[in-house]
Amino acid sequence: MKRIFITGGAGFIGSAFVRLVLDEHADVEIVDYDALTYAGNMANLAGVDAERHRFVKGDICDREAVMNALPEGTDAIFNFAAESHVDRSINSADEFLRTNIIGTQVLLDAAREKGVRRFVQISTDEVMGSLPDDSDEYFTESSPLQPNSPYAASKAAAEFVVRAARETHGVDTVVTRCGNNYGPRQFPEKLIPLMIANAMNDEPLPVYGDGRNVRDWIYVDDHCRAIWLAYEKGRSGEAYNIGARNEQENINVVKAILDAVGKPHELIKLVTDRKGHDRRYAIDPAKAETELGWKPQVTWEEGLAATIDWYRANQDWVNHIRNGEYRNYYDAMYGARLEKAV
Ligand SMILES: NC(=O)c1ccc[n+]([C@@H]2O[C@H](COP(=O)([O-])OP(=O)(O)OC[C@H]3O[C@@H](n4cnc5c(N)ncnc54)[C@H](O)[C@@H]3O)[C@@H](O)[C@H]2O)c1
Repeated sequence: MKRIFITGGAGFIGSAFVRLVLDEHADVEIVDYDALTYAGNMANLAGVDAERHRFVKGDICDREAVMNALPEGTDAIFNFAAESHVDRSINSADEFLRTNIIGTQVLLDAAREKGVRRFVQISTDEVMGSLPDDSDEYFTESSPLQPNSPYAASKAAAEFVVRAARETHGVDTVVTRCGNNYGPRQFPEKLIPLMIANAMNDEPLPVYGDGRNVRDWIYVDDHCRAIWLAYEKGRSGEAYNIGARNEQENINVVKAILDAVGKPHELIKLVTDRKGHDRRYAIDPAKAETELGWKPQVTWEEGLAATIDWYRANQDWVNHIRNGEYRNYYDAMYGARLEKAV
């Protein structure tokens, strides 16, 4: 059995990665380490194979807890854990700097001490800033890191501490930088699930500014497959940009959701723009395609339909989050005994 350590595995992308790995790699067992912040939700892990998945509740900034949870002989750490919502970072950046930078450093130190073979850092295209919307430029791996939000700055800083661990201490590292993910189990404050929920409830759909900001959307499982390939085939010290060549203006995303849910475009409400709102993200994934042999498998139309179907079928999941009940799920499901696991 190959042993891997995933942080943030109760979040949106981390939990999708746990499912994908357990489904597709029978020889892998996972320790899943997550602090269960507001964004972590044990319901995201309902039904996963308990034989090969062990959950440990803990903070990546807590050195002792990380060292206790990280098993000897771990082949790789996949660092998904992060404060991830740009709007929250605009209100207060402290927690972003703590988790995203200090937490990454703690994990790198633990990887070194325990002789973990490879460290995979899940980064974001937002570290590269914004592109002009009237250009045909794309983010490549040699684009400068010029983050614009406190969230993006903390993720860029995390990339630098990853680089430093490699250059200084020889830790084997790979970085993935993906665009905007969508799919089942995304926390309902993010654009697509927020709009789906509001559309289903006939509530106004608030769209920032003129709605013409462009994001490069990717179905979450395609992102997860790319992360796995970066772990297996990525060159040490390299970054890989991950994108599905699917640029969409926000306003068109929202209209597509309204059309799919069968609600009128009149529900759209343009609201005051986000501070420092990046105009356009667009990723050139050629390096991942050629070096990792990765290609997205899910089209935008298929992925959006599957996502809307999931939210339609799982309205309890959304409602539990909206009224805060999901915070009790961990205790109800797993009790205190799991906190001492490992
Ligand atoms: N969502 C996107 O579109 C996107 C795109 C590119 C990259 N990313 C990156 O992917 C990763 C996962 O994003 P997501 O959308 O799944 O985020 P999320 O907010 O849904 O999940 C984050 C998870 O990390 C956990 N966590 C937070 N702070 C922690 C801490 N101090 N210690 C341990 N666990 C902690 C939370 O409990 C949660 O389960 C992040 O690193 C993010 O920067 C996200």
